Amino acid sequence: MKEIFIKRQLTDKLNIAVFASGKGSNFKSILESIKLGKIHNADIVIVISNNADAGALEIARENNILTLHINRRQFASDDDFNAALISDMQKVRVNFIVLAGYMKKINPNIIKAFKNRIVNIHPALLPKFGGKGMYGIHVHEAVIASKEKFSGASVHIVDEEYDRGPLVLQKIVQIEPNDTPETLAAKVLKIEHEIYPEAIRLFAEGRVKVDRQKIIIVS
Ligand code: GRF
Repeated sequence: MKEIFIKRQLTDKLNIAVFASGKGSNFKSILESIKLGKIHNADIVIVISNNADAGALEIARENNILTLHINRRQFASDDDFNAALISDMQKVRVNFIVLAGYMKKINPNIIKAFKNRIVNIHPALLPKFGGKGMYGIHVHEAVIASKEKFSGASVHIVDEEYDRGPLVLQKIVQIEPNDTPETLAAKVLKIEHEIYPEAIRLFAEGRVKVDRQKIIIVS
């Protein structure tokens, strides 16, 4: 098997930028894992949000993490916006981006600059129930409406297409007959808080390799 011949490489420390638009519970779960020493070799150096009221920014401030409220409306053009975003990340030497409930599309130039170094979490078992319009409660409504027996969460690498990049980790939850979109959302969020820190740990340990759009976890 190919995997066993790939040597583990020590990586530079992950200098993470978290992008979040909402309450930031996933960001918090990653931060806790770093603080508890479950993830070594990684720091969250900045939290970036398009939304000034994002809970994620509040959590960052409470933890003395640099925050940046930035959105396209503050700039004359897409290029200006993205240049500012990249420059602000360079100032704090960001080398890895974690999308945690970020509601805006990432510009292709940023995806290119951070190739295979941007991850996202999606509250369903991709490739099912992903893509445009599939966010928040809409995902769980669609899952329940399709009478699925299972749902779950997926961590994937971000490429140019919504929810399409290589999968890093997934975890399944069972759907009970009395589950509603809301109860399912709560179940899924709970496992998001398990697999997102776990996925970041694998990256921080240099154990995630991308080979022709496939992920290999090196042991
Ligand atoms: C999560 O359900 C995540 O899967 C999705 O956005 C939500 C963010 O929640 N991408 P939170 O802000 O981390 O609490």
